[in-house]
Amino acid sequence: MHRLGDVMDELRGQLAELEQRVHEASSHYDDEPWQAENFARHLPGKHELSLVATVRGKPVGFVIASRRPEGTHIHRVATDPRHQGTGIASRLLALFLARTPGIVTLICDPRNRTALDLYARAGFRVTGTAAEGKLSLAAGTPLYR
Ligand SMILES: CC(C)(COP(=O)(O)OP(=O)(O)OC[C@H]1O[C@@H](n2cnc3c(N)ncnc32)[C@H](O)[C@@H]1OP(=O)(O)O)[C@@H](O)C(=O)NCCC(=O)NCCS
Repeated sequence: MHRLGDVMDELRGQLAELEQRVHEASSHYDDEPWQAENFARHLPGKHELSLVATVRGKPVGFVIASRRPEGTHIHRVATDPRHQGTGIASRLLALFLARTPGIVTLICDPRNRTALDLYARAGFRVTGTAAEGKLSLAAGTPLYR
């Protein structure tokens, strides 16, 4: 597992290829696959918080997140179709949550049962609905200042 910032220069093209493969193999992932510049784009905390799993130096999964005023938001979770069902996303999420204090949010298509089961096991709960009928989920507890 690597922090996104540590592998960005080397792997940004491969991350976009992985995103494209996941997009083609999945029916309820996000509408438009991210390009290399989306992975590289700077958002608060993104390069420190986001995690990339590699096998023999090639990316096989990622959790991409950034800080928002109310907590940390996960933008992308994906595992290479050839490696799905082997625990990569579960391990990425567990490490991510262990390293990220406060509330962590994400949005998921309600038809994406595999992802919703994964998030429930990782400790996320449904908190409401978002645009286009998607579900809002959250894990963690608020940080008080
Ligand atoms: C959702 C996703 C990230 C899960 O990643 P993963 O690395 O396969 O997940 P894990 O292996 O850690 O665990 C997921 C669980 O679902 C099962 N699973 C995962 N993918 C599966 C698949 N394609 N077919 C059947 N079962 C699957 C695993 O066996 C595991 O169950 P278990 O813990 O009872 O053994 C992955 O399926 C994916 O990339 N989907 C497309 C992108 C997507 O939808 N992202 C989420 C957007 S909100």
